[in-house]
Amino acid sequence: MILDIISKKANKYELTKEELETIFMGYLNNKVKDYQMSAFLMAICINDMSDSEIFALTDIFINSGDILDLSFIDGIKVDKHSTGGVGDKTTLIVAPIVASCGVPVIKMSGRGLGYTGGTIDKLESIPGLKVDLTLEEIEKQAKEIGIVITSQTKDLAPLDKKIYALRDVTATTNSIPLIASSIMSKKIAGNADKIVIDIKVGNGALLKNMEDAKRLESLLIKIGTYYQKEVRTVISNMDRPLGHNIGNKLEVLEALDVLKGNVKGELLDLSLELASKMVSMGKEISEADAMKEVKENLENGKALDKFLEFVKYQYGDIDSLNIDAKVYNIKANKTGVLKDINALSIAKLSESLGAGRKSKEDKIDYNAGIIIKKDIGDEIKEGDILATIYTNVDNKKFNLERIFEIS
Ligand code: URA
Repeated sequence: MILDIISKKANKYELTKEELETIFMGYLNNKVKDYQMSAFLMAICINDMSDSEIFALTDIFINSGDILDLSFIDGIKVDKHSTGGVGDKTTLIVAPIVASCGVPVIKMSGRGLGYTGGTIDKLESIPGLKVDLTLEEIEKQAKEIGIVITSQTKDLAPLDKKIYALRDVTATTNSIPLIASSIMSKKIAGNADKIVIDIKVGNGALLKNMEDAKRLESLLIKIGTYYQKEVRTVISNMDRPLGHNIGNKLEVLEALDVLKGNVKGELLDLSLELASKMVSMGKEISEADAMKEVKENLENGKALDKFLEFVKYQYGDIDSLNIDAKVYNIKANKTGVLKDINALSIAKLSESLGAGRKSKEDKIDYNAGIIIKKDIGDEIKEGDILATIYTNVDNKKFNLERIFEIS
């Protein structure tokens, strides 16, 4: 039976929901082996899935675990997701802005696997900050301060978790139907009413070209419509890292700087856009009106206060966040104009410094990371400092290939 289902997909036939359930739930229950599921996932990567197969798979992922009950929160609950990128610390900025505008944010986030940490790793780099909250703690905190960021409970879409770990080691992460059902199942099981999704495209992202990003966008919206959840999207560039700081503690410090009003540029602009979409959906007002509120709360310090309140409530001590690492500078080896900062190369460097994990068991060094000192378009003189590196590993192990293009 399992072999028939794999052959059917390999031969480009459409599968029924029952067939998908048999193989996927069989995998969750250890009846289907890793090698069988690997072959099946590769057949999906090559032969794609129809819309009805994608809806069925999303449903199977959702029903493999619990659905969060957020009925204790009044009003519209809006969630945010990013498909993941280098230096993407927008959740740390957007969540307090949105909460300060009166839209509750209850966000379940993940740890990173790959070159850099996830939101939970970044938060955990703040001394003392607690990321594993119980449902009772989530409810109390949401009611009292309107913002919670906690790690995803193991009971939320457990099948997606198991499949994602296998995709990661079988070169099947970039299948668009698998990405769409993976993201949407977690958001729907998390029980948000409305969802904003930041789709990253570029060399440092899962999706490398605009055509794939557009296909993912259309699928996310279709799945949302199927579950009567409004989905709005942003497609953003990931050929370059987002912002100047990469690495867990350094990203928290940059997020704090944005909230203090000290940072301009792409990171601020994207954060404002995502926050406005969330506020617009949560308050059912236009995005232009939402943008006014968002900017106001950034300027009057309410968003910063909300961030500090949130960190304190979850037992974090932001004042003792210090970088404990050796410092090295990367200097320009020629004079010219900075044409490119390669996101993928920065990601590989950051992993070689200890800021990311290669396998789930690896420990992250929260101190490790990079601060990029120049922007694209800047005039560079030979010997100028392009970036500062923070690490506790031996400098012979750095991966410095093809990061800055100067011509
Ligand atoms: N993010 C997810 O949650 N799942 C994917 O498959 C890709 C990005």
